[in-house]
Amino acid sequence: MTIISDDNNIKNKRREKNPIIKNESIEYDKTFENSIRPKTFEDYIGQTALKETLKISIEAAKLRNKPLDHLLFYGPPGLGKTTLAGVIAEQMGADIKITSAPSLERPRDIIGILMSLKGGEILFIDEIHRLNKVAEEILYPAMEDFSLDMTTGKSQTVKTLRVPLPKFTLIGATTKAGELSGPLRDRFGIIHRLQFYTVAELTQVIKRTARILDIQITEEGAKAIAKRSRGTPRIANRLVKRVADFAIIKYDGVITEEVASKSLDTLNIDEFGLDTTDRAILNLIIDKYDGGPVGIETIAAALSEDVRTLEDVCEPYLLQSGLLQRTPRGRKVSPEGYRHLGKKPGNQQQHLF
Ligand SMILES: Nc1ncnc2c1ncn2[C@@H]1O[C@H](COP(=O)(O)OP(=O)(O)OP(=O)(O)O)[C@@H](O)[C@H]1O
Ligand SMILES: [Mg+2]
Repeated sequence: MTIISDDNNIKNKRREKNPIIKNESIEYDKTFENSIRPKTFEDYIGQTALKETLKISIEAAKLRNKPLDHLLFYGPPGLGKTTLAGVIAEQMGADIKITSAPSLERPRDIIGILMSLKGGEILFIDEIHRLNKVAEEILYPAMEDFSLDMTTGKSQTVKTLRVPLPKFTLIGATTKAGELSGPLRDRFGIIHRLQFYTVAELTQVIKRTARILDIQITEEGAKAIAKRSRGTPRIANRLVKRVADFAIIKYDGVITEEVASKSLDTLNIDEFGLDTTDRAILNLIIDKYDGGPVGIETIAAALSEDVRTLEDVCEPYLLQSGLLQRTPRGRKVSPEGYRHLGKKPGNQQQHLF
């Protein structure tokens, strides 16, 4: 696997802001993630329907000796988009080059990568919704006809030169499919949304991670962590590590249900997996805006959070779990949201969060 460049600024920012995942150095975090990242479909838990269609597409491509269609994966952070790209490369027996849209700012960045590709290779572009117009236009003929349209000369003597490229597969990943331009989206043969994971699936993820890290965990202990992992394997893995520290230092080294629950309570992660920021969002909307609707910018300003962090990291799970609702006039706390915080709709609370 070649990592061409990796613009992690935004993700690093998210990590600094997110109480579940801060306290860890980014480097350590990346090494940890890579060490437990599944490499095969067998180890890649959940996303069953997606895996089945992918396996068929991969077999068909191999039989015909053709590269796989370009693929687009979208969905909230930590659900396994990057991991899946690696699994596909492994299954295709292909090399993968990894980059992200913010590092393809100048035309020569994207041209350079495209020209460096070998036949059958996979190009993975993370945060593909952030690709600029020029880069997108370079990508269109590359995706469609495996060629680059280069212009030479100036004004009246300008000539377009078509340079052939080897056949490759582009895998794009984004947390914001809605921000992708129509023409770019249309050039992907397979578009798939990754789903949040069930408690049973996350329990499997957690047991696998514990095995790799050589941590003892009971079935109930794994389930207790799974329930508070917001449907997200990345969070599940981080929580295993946190809880393991508690198990070793404060208990007898085994993650049981009790150890998991007590440790997660201490870490301020509630039964829904909400952390302090999530609860602050709900409390703010209830206490200051009578439950909403209120604009995301207003919420971000009041909490000194970044709009993107709220939209990408906090909101998807709050929406998915039905605690928050998105309306044309802004965000609203649902009756379940009130119930979760032990508050009643209509009674504007005076205290702050
Ligand atoms: N299906 C899965 N089975 C087991 N572990 C998984 C699965 N999906 C993801 N993980 C674990 O979760 C971690 C995060 O996954 P990954 O980096 O692929 O998420 P992502 O969707 O690319 O996130 P982002 O949007 O932030 O780039 C990985 O290190 C991996 O160990
Ligand atoms: Mg990723």
